[in-house]
Amino acid sequence: MTKRSKGLSLVAALLFGAAALGSAPHAASADGGTCGGKENPCPLQKWMKVNIGTPMAAGDLAAVSVALEKAASMSPDPAWGEWAASSKAGAAAAKKGDLAATKASCKSCHEKYKDAYKEKFRARLLP
Ligand code: HEC
Repeated sequence: MTKRSKGLSLVAALLFGAAALGSAPHAASADGGTCGGKENPCPLQKWMKVNIGTPMAAGDLAAVSVALEKAASMSPDPAWGEWAASSKAGAAAAKKGDLAATKASCKSCHEKYKDAYKEKFRARLLP
């Protein structure tokens, strides 16, 4: 492998990594709903990608922090107490530039609420 092609494959790997971050977690419209998947993402799915996934991939934690502050108020169900808590914890971590703690907040909300959200609230318009 030449030096040049090695550089190019590194760039390709980075681009691929960013794309995978944005699209990995769910299969295209397997639920037969009217939204979901790449062509027609659901409201929150799209919001997450644009406002959180993209700045995350770019390492722009300041923007991620602002978006997570907003996400705190987007809980679809008042009984989902940890929704706001995990968003706010993530926003605070991102503000400090703590990538690991920021990612932990994504994970805790996704693990706890993502499936339920997709099942019950997927087509819901954002507040
Ligand atoms: C308070 C809850 C919560 C937090 C915090 C959160 N997310 Fe999400 N996220 C969701 C939910 C719910 C969905 C599913 C939306 C859907 O598919 O309709 C989602 C979907 C996504 C998607 C779209 C994936 C797809 O299926 O296309 C991306 C990308 C994403 N989140 C990135 C992040 C990142 C990165 C963070 C942390 C910096 C984060 N999210 C923090 C709740 C959260």
